[in-house]
Amino acid sequence: MSQAANLDLDEIAAAVTASPRYMDISPELVQRIARQEAAKHSSFKDVVKNTRTKLHQVGGAYLAQEPPYERWLQQAQEAGLPGNLEALQRHCLQWMGQHASTRERLPILEQLYSAVFAELPPVHSVLDIACGLNPLAIPWMPLTAGDSYVAFDIYGRMVDFLNQLFATGPLQFHAERRDVLGDLPYPQADLALVLKTLPCLEQVDRQIAPRLIEAIPAAHLAVSFPVRSLGGRSKGMPEHYSQHFEALARQQAWQMRRLDLPGELVYLVEK
Ligand SMILES: C[S@@+](CC[C@H](N)C(=O)[O-])C[C@H]1O[C@@H](n2cnc3c(N)ncnc32)[C@H](O)[C@@H]1O
Repeated sequence: MSQAANLDLDEIAAAVTASPRYMDISPELVQRIARQEAAKHSSFKDVVKNTRTKLHQVGGAYLAQEPPYERWLQQAQEAGLPGNLEALQRHCLQWMGQHASTRERLPILEQLYSAVFAELPPVHSVLDIACGLNPLAIPWMPLTAGDSYVAFDIYGRMVDFLNQLFATGPLQFHAERRDVLGDLPYPQADLALVLKTLPCLEQVDRQIAPRLIEAIPAAHLAVSFPVRSLGGRSKGMPEHYSQHFEALARQQAWQMRRLDLPGELVYLVEK
């Protein structure tokens, strides 16, 4: 039987976010996980502890510490970013190293984006779902002035940093703190990036993959999977994710092409 009725979710959320590591996370996600944990445990302390553990697994584990966003913005201003492409690339490479997911993509950054964009008709709008620091890869994407880029993640200060960095750039850029497990609508886009994100979202909602992909109003999606765990072990991950995702694609009648890149398994999906 659910224990949730006995515990106050607002009090749980307040206790979870009292710690600086969780303060900045989307309140919707904190409540969603707290509700799940309250249905499994009867003690307030256990619910708070397990909610934090889950939030760490889906977000905090990728960031050893909160990046020094103020310092980065200062550096950006001094280097004349985002106007100076060469300096922008240099800084973005360094900053992407602070998030585990973009860090492991650095050796294949150019290869990944040239392979993805080469397969598609011209792209003028991008949606980046659970983006992490991936919008810092924009300088490697063939986007032009006036094109739009909309990105979502659960960290408020991360999206604020991205918005400030790209505010004076040539793209229409907008990043937003959002729990993508919710049902808010997305803007239409030529390409949606769902990079290394489904396994993370499935830790909270096992049914999310078909619902999210169907809800994204984009003709083309790049959906990718990690081939190693954060600890560096492979553990049959490519086989596991490819079987799972290819079965789902058959069931949903999505067309797709597979790109096996070192360190990342990418599917180009057409709905
Ligand atoms: C494996 S990382 C992938 C980041 C990025 N897509 C990339 O490939 O570099 C997973 C990301 O999902 C974000 N995340 C986790 N749960 C989320 C949720 N419910 N809504 C939005 N973002 C979420 C995390 O903060 C993290 O940045």
